Amino acid sequence: MPKAELHIHLEGSIHPHTLLELATKNGTALNARDLAGVERLFRYDSFLGFLDVYRACARCLIQGEDFERVAYEMAVDLAEQNVRYAEVMLSPAQHMQRNMDFDEILGGVAAGFARAHAERGIVCKPAFDFGRQFSLQEALRAVELAQDGMRYGVVAFSIGGDEANYPPEPFVEVFAVAKAVGLHVMAHAGEVAGANSVRGAIEMLGVDRIGHGFRVLEDPELTQILARRGDITFDVCPTSNLLTGVIPLISAHPLRQMFDAGLPITLNSDDPTLFNTTLTNEFMLAAEHFNFNVDEICKVALQSIRGAFMPAAERAALLSSFKHEQAALREELGI
Ligand code: ADE
Ligand code: ZN
Repeated sequence: MPKAELHIHLEGSIHPHTLLELATKNGTALNARDLAGVERLFRYDSFLGFLDVYRACARCLIQGEDFERVAYEMAVDLAEQNVRYAEVMLSPAQHMQRNMDFDEILGGVAAGFARAHAERGIVCKPAFDFGRQFSLQEALRAVELAQDGMRYGVVAFSIGGDEANYPPEPFVEVFAVAKAVGLHVMAHAGEVAGANSVRGAIEMLGVDRIGHGFRVLEDPELTQILARRGDITFDVCPTSNLLTGVIPLISAHPLRQMFDAGLPITLNSDDPTLFNTTLTNEFMLAAEHFNFNVDEICKVALQSIRGAFMPAAERAALLSSFKHEQAALREELGI
């Protein structure tokens, strides 16, 4: 089935062997010496423990060629799953801290995406995901860098990181500037904090998409309003939520409740190599653990085109080809 992925982090998509090679090449401290060590590193005792590992991966990327390599490898991984379009977050604060040159970073990312496009036809667009624990001043600088990055295809600005200790409201001005310069906006919310965090991201920051967002269900009234409105897409990442410990068991994930409540949802891998998952695997989970039938799987796959940050004509063309391909596949398989 053709798919799109809207919630995936570049720094969370590095192949374990690539990570080891980059750490050695760049002399970066990494708490793993071999593949078995990386496997141990990629087990998390808490959400904040996960963020530490994510940051350690980000620190292994130093040169433009490193970004080119991981962007290319990630895009090929996606293309092999029949993903046609992806929006890929980078964490600017991690790289700003090390005074890195964003022309070199984004030039590398764009080159990696262009090579994958030429070979496999997949389209990938970069987005910035700013770690909310950094300062507002740095956030404004990150928006400037994102605006500058629009010539490399940057489409959106987002906040991620430590949601529990850093609510969305202080970022009002940052998001107003991001929107004013023509960036789309989204936020990780309702992943580690409750429904108020989702409300804040929507009402104060004006986001069109929420990363995760499952804790919105703690506020049935807000859930109902958002289901009726239908204009905010929830990018859900079930395996991520299990492995960062924000849900205790996969069966406790409210994916089915979100869908049944009428919220527009997409499925995503978030940090595929850090969680040893793929987008295909997330769809398999929906079918096998959450009893999504063929109609429901098709609807979720189309939502990732409806929620994508792309021009209306491209959206209409991609929606139409996804619908045709879904129909042809169903015919062929008799489902
Ligand atoms: N950065 C990478 N993955 C993240 C997640 N699941 N939540 C917040 N920030 C992240
Ligand atoms: Zn994320």
